[in-house]
Amino acid sequence: MKFKMRALRVAVLGCLLMSGAAASATDIEVLHWWTSGGEAKAAAQLKSIMESKGYTWKDFAVAGGGGENAMTVLKTRVVSGDPPAAAQIKGPSIQEWGQEGVLANLDPVAKIEKWDHMLPAAVANVMKFDHHYVAVPVNVHRVNWLWVNPAVFQAAGATVPKTWDEFPAAAEKIRAAGYIPLAHGGQPWQDFTVFESVVLGVGGADFYRQALVDLDQDALRSDTMKRAFEVFGALRADIDPDAPNRDWNQATTMVINGKAAMQLMGDWAKGEFTQAGKVPGKDYECVAAPGSQGAFTFNVDSLVMFQQDADDVAKGQQVLASAVLSPAFQKVFNLAKGSIPVRTDMDMASFDACARKSAQDFQAAAQSGSLVPSIAHQMAVPAATAGAMQDVVTQFFNTPDAPVERALAQLAQAAQVQ
Ligand code: GAL
Repeated sequence: MKFKMRALRVAVLGCLLMSGAAASATDIEVLHWWTSGGEAKAAAQLKSIMESKGYTWKDFAVAGGGGENAMTVLKTRVVSGDPPAAAQIKGPSIQEWGQEGVLANLDPVAKIEKWDHMLPAAVANVMKFDHHYVAVPVNVHRVNWLWVNPAVFQAAGATVPKTWDEFPAAAEKIRAAGYIPLAHGGQPWQDFTVFESVVLGVGGADFYRQALVDLDQDALRSDTMKRAFEVFGALRADIDPDAPNRDWNQATTMVINGKAAMQLMGDWAKGEFTQAGKVPGKDYECVAAPGSQGAFTFNVDSLVMFQQDADDVAKGQQVLASAVLSPAFQKVFNLAKGSIPVRTDMDMASFDACARKSAQDFQAAAQSGSLVPSIAHQMAVPAATAGAMQDVVTQFFNTPDAPVERALAQLAQAAQVQ
């Protein structure tokens, strides 16, 4: 009897996913932090797909790059027993939420649509808690990018730095020509984003993994990490005095407008270039962050579903998950967002040059063992550990002349926070 009921439910769900029509407009509330121009355009694609399926998209956008604000608001809602239907939650945090016993099960849709075959195994595993799908992956962002305004480089007679050793000379020429070398927003998550790219470029993917994923104490206290802090600290001289608190997309605008030459940021920045009508290879360049060619720091966005009392909302969650992985959505969303599809079977021909490079580099890095999770974007270690390490990094960056030795010791200590 139980089995029959389940078979019936799966059959009904199958019809629902295919027809896509909800009986009456059910609210599906989605918490996210996609509020910049490119991000909002990308999120609007999901809204319109859900509306075409008869649902009402209840937008729960919490501004704040990197999602720290959004996570604080989410906790309050869940604690008060009123979680949204879906929330942008990533990486190891999915397991932490799973342990709270508040997540919904997406196995029905995952089974019908064969997610186990559609998704890379490494991604699928992160989306499961206790062997059940509780989240749907949206995309793959690459973090270790350097965004370049070629006209500024040309005006300054500078060459785009391929290594951290080359960086200071290029920055000096750019500064001398009257431009800001590095567009940056002084927010802890942005400092940490730059820091992880420096660690990757200075130490390579194996070192990055030892230090920032395995949290190996020797690696964290090593000379390589010392050098990474030195390189990172030297960047203070390359950013402008108005950087504190600047949002990441405002920093991207400085590169777009030719006020600054470069930005070290994940490819959500590309969404801003696209939104401004800029073309890669002509108006801007996307190159690997210095020293990190061949490596790929990944950041997979995902929507986690929370258990709901209302049956129609629970069904809507399955419909939402199905929509997220549909080829049509994967294309329009990722074109606007700057990321690449998480489905491995997508044709990349209609994507721009940066996305095609990202997709190629992703495959190559996976094969060479140079694919590493972003610590700054909640992919690598538990949130509490990443938060403690981020505090050390940002304090170091915002304290001129902070001793490197002290930062090393503090980072190694912070890595033990659980
Ligand atoms: C990342 C997130 C991206 C983008 C970025 C800036 O953590 O994965 O989707 O939103 O923050 O807010």
